[in-house]
Amino acid sequence: MTDTTQNTTDGTGDGVAGTDGTTGDDTASTDTAGAGTPAGDGSRAPSRRALIGWGGAGLALGAAVAGGAVAVARPGEDTVETVAAGGPIAFHGTHQAGIATPVQDRLHFAAFDVETDDREAFVAMLKDWTEAARRMTAGKAVGDGAYGGLAEAPPDDTGEALGLKPSRLTLTVGFGPSLFERFGLAKQRPEALVDLPQFAGDNLDRARSGGDLCVQACADDPQVAVHAIRNLARIGFGKVSVRWSQLGFGKTSSTTPEAQTPRNLMGFKDGTRNIAGTETARLKKHVWVDEKDGPAWMAGGSYLVARRIRMHIEPWDRTSLQEQEDIFGRDKGEGAPVGKAKERDEPFLKAMKPDAHVRLAHPDSNGGATILRRGYSFTDGTDGLGRLDAGLFFLAYQRDVRKGFIPIQRNLATDALNEYIQHVGSAIFAVPPGVRDADDWWGRALFSSTTEG
Ligand code: HEM
Repeated sequence: MTDTTQNTTDGTGDGVAGTDGTTGDDTASTDTAGAGTPAGDGSRAPSRRALIGWGGAGLALGAAVAGGAVAVARPGEDTVETVAAGGPIAFHGTHQAGIATPVQDRLHFAAFDVETDDREAFVAMLKDWTEAARRMTAGKAVGDGAYGGLAEAPPDDTGEALGLKPSRLTLTVGFGPSLFERFGLAKQRPEALVDLPQFAGDNLDRARSGGDLCVQACADDPQVAVHAIRNLARIGFGKVSVRWSQLGFGKTSSTTPEAQTPRNLMGFKDGTRNIAGTETARLKKHVWVDEKDGPAWMAGGSYLVARRIRMHIEPWDRTSLQEQEDIFGRDKGEGAPVGKAKERDEPFLKAMKPDAHVRLAHPDSNGGATILRRGYSFTDGTDGLGRLDAGLFFLAYQRDVRKGFIPIQRNLATDALNEYIQHVGSAIFAVPPGVRDADDWWGRALFSSTTEG
């Protein structure tokens, strides 16, 4: 596949790109990667998705301007482009949106099981899903809409998103290992799509784990995200069924860009040292599957690890501030690493306790392993024992989980944070490249490369 994204020198001066400090070639060039310059058009002009696609990972690339619009820096230029808040993010692109895209406020994530053995019916559903996703991400209703059609038939769209803005909705699809046991796909299962090993401390609930495929819906309006998953589930009736799902939140404002790093439910800034959507070289190195990685159908895709991590909120809230800060290796107010003054200062790992989370998770402690984190907080009521069922729905994208999530999570076996968290759900998915144009569909390259056999 031809990558039509442009790599230009970072002129945004955000001072964040390339802070990794561990890999000399992780230079901070800025691109529209993942931002979806329509494949094949070769244009140098950034697409709409490009313009609103920069600055993921909670970086201060933009600022709220009058009228609720969002000012977004153009790569390599000092100018800013104004993008209407709540606007659409382009669906077509080299990579799927929802990975390098700036993190939206809300999440509805659903894992599905396949119910049919009919390959043609499943492929037809993927095409129908793609068309519905194309429309919903543009702020349009599915099919012929929610009303005005045949009175004798259910409407094509369920209707609850009528009148709502596109809300930067992104829909990102992934294929789980078990899908490759079906439809003659076995030979196309990527080597990197491993079954995750059991990690120390795992207490996984099967009912909240796995899945043949997944859809990650992110939007600034929860109703828009929920509407999208609901309509895809409805379209898939008889072919797929929802295995488990997770709602998530993470930001308190739906109209301003991420001028500051959001905080997790433990009250700490989360995402300070993450891969930003601006960092072409790091995205290429650590997130996007390269053509030479194979299989061919995954080029431009990525691998997603989803973990439902329960937080033991009540004991955490009784823990002293000093211990909380020691556990992360950062201070609670500013988010600065131990011994440093500012959040973005380079961490000095040896100044932290040996079991500090940041020390153990840092690339320098893991042979350079680097992932793109895109998680959300969740609260799902109480657990029947008077405790909040709350935590972090951890989502991480990477080029190869064997060089990303797995070594990091193994190293976190001695994490001081483990006293206050437990991993209770787990799933892994191969996330194919972006849908290129109006004729393309989710999974085309995979299904076109195989026949039922
Ligand atoms: C509930 C569970 C977790 C919480 C509350 C949490 C919280 C945090 C916080 C507050 C930071 C410091 C700010 C930042 O750089 O983002 C951080 C950093 C980080 N975390 Fe976690 N985290 C959790 C689980 C995980 C897991 C499961 C992984 C991966 C296996 C992970 C990987 C990382 C990485 C790679 C960093 C950046 C380290 C660096 O480069 O300095 N975290 N986390």
